[in-house]
Amino acid sequence: MWRPTERIKHEVPAAEWPTAEKAARSRWFSPVQVGPVELEQRTWVPAMVPWRATENGYVTPEILEWYERFAQGRPGAIVVEATGVRDIASGPLLRIGHDRFVPGLQQLVETVRRASDGHTRLFIQLIDFLVVRRRPERERFFREFLVIDDGLRSRCSGDDESIREQLVAMSDEDLDVVLSSRQLESFRYGYRERVTDTDLPHVDELPKVLPGIFAAAAGRAETAGFDGVELHYAHAYTMASFLSATNTRQDGYGGSIRGRLKLPLEVFRAVRAEVSNSMAIGCRYLSEECVDSGSGIEDAEAFGVAFAGAGMDYLSLSRGGKFDDAEQPRVGRAVYPYTGPSGYECMPTVVSDVQGPFGRNVDPTARVRAAVRSAGHDTPIVVAGGICSFEQAESLLEGGDADIVAAARQSLADPDWLRKIRVGMGDQVRRCIYTNYCEGLDQLHKQVTCQLWDRSDLDDPDVCLSEDGKRRLIAPPSPDLAARSRRKSL
Ligand SMILES: Cc1cc2nc3c(=O)[nH]c(=O)nc-3n(C[C@H](O)[C@H](O)[C@H](O)COP(=O)(O)O)c2cc1C
Ligand code: SF4
Repeated sequence: MWRPTERIKHEVPAAEWPTAEKAARSRWFSPVQVGPVELEQRTWVPAMVPWRATENGYVTPEILEWYERFAQGRPGAIVVEATGVRDIASGPLLRIGHDRFVPGLQQLVETVRRASDGHTRLFIQLIDFLVVRRRPERERFFREFLVIDDGLRSRCSGDDESIREQLVAMSDEDLDVVLSSRQLESFRYGYRERVTDTDLPHVDELPKVLPGIFAAAAGRAETAGFDGVELHYAHAYTMASFLSATNTRQDGYGGSIRGRLKLPLEVFRAVRAEVSNSMAIGCRYLSEECVDSGSGIEDAEAFGVAFAGAGMDYLSLSRGGKFDDAEQPRVGRAVYPYTGPSGYECMPTVVSDVQGPFGRNVDPTARVRAAVRSAGHDTPIVVAGGICSFEQAESLLEGGDADIVAAARQSLADPDWLRKIRVGMGDQVRRCIYTNYCEGLDQLHKQVTCQLWDRSDLDDPDVCLSEDGKRRLIAPPSPDLAARSRRKSL
């Protein structure tokens, strides 16, 4: 994983926890309207992929337990992990690309309602992604995968078979000269499609097909009982790539900010037309891409104004997480968009630069919010990134930086933390140490757990273990909290 060159080790900031009365009066624990949906609190668990679906993308008992555990902490909202909108094989990533996925998702909705006693609203993040292949072995790449094109024929001699053998034997320096930059990338990182590959018919036609695909998925989310959908326009995936300043498509869906916004807005309108007015529709997108030639804060301000103007019910800001600067994967592994500097910006760790990992996304989010407000829209803005204490959340709400404060890793470290704060037991919060053990598991597509609890009580026969039998899958219960909550009926 990439780290800032300064390598400054930051401590998790000391926290002063409020009494139950102070928490009850706070902004963070006050209600907020998200389009047609009211959240009881401005607390939010953003999408986190736990790699617990079946190989065919269905909800499993382990997924139900994962969300049940977050729901027991009763946040204002939970966003279910990035869920594939197409009916295509995608490994153990949750899917919603066909009606057959609806019954499992219905169970998920019921589980969260029950576990939160109806206090938590549930959204689902809808994602589309393009093809990313694993980094190939040298021989297989040159003998089987590489397409020998006229460029290669002009730079090498002999027939195609002999060109392949020459490439297998060639030094890295010579390959730098002979292969095109895309061929080199496919060899060194694995083949990866881009939205600008309009010579590929299925990429060319994305603007034609995606509005309908997203709309159908959103319709299924409504049938399953979700309160809303979150369009995944962030990080390294298809819709973020349309928004990116690197999108040079010439068909009206790239280039200028207007062109880059065209498909994201068309997808939103198709989704809006598909679901009823009781469903909230928002999106997650980037305050900054944090890569060379990528979109910056001015783009994000313009996107925010356009999304709010189109009628989105909320905007959730993340940052970074791009393929463009990701580390080279090992042979047999796929490139992972959270391994380079932009990945660091998305999930910063305690080994950081002077600024440190806490609240790194607050200022850019505040700028987006200010632009949206100046344009006359009151769309709620969600901020995430290294937020792990009551004061931090409360002060940024007070300062008008955001309207809703999300915490991913802190909620994973202690799914009860919000409820503990709410009942005046903040001193018992198990605090995330921001070293990204969980993200390392995500990178390997292993069931995600937290190092602070995944070795507790492994001998207990009631504890559900990971596939390798070495880790518990769900955070331990908080018995004191249950007793206190009963007394205070919170
Ligand atoms: C294990 C893991 C999985 C994640 N999966 C998603 C995802 O599916 N969609 C998404 O938008 N962000 C995802 N994220 C990013 C988080 O939602 C969040 O933006 C990021 O962790 C920074 O917030 P934090 O500092 O509160 O953890 C994931 C993060 C982690 C740690
Ligand atoms: S594994 Fe580490 S970074 Fe992830 S939630 Fe747990 S303490 Fe935080």
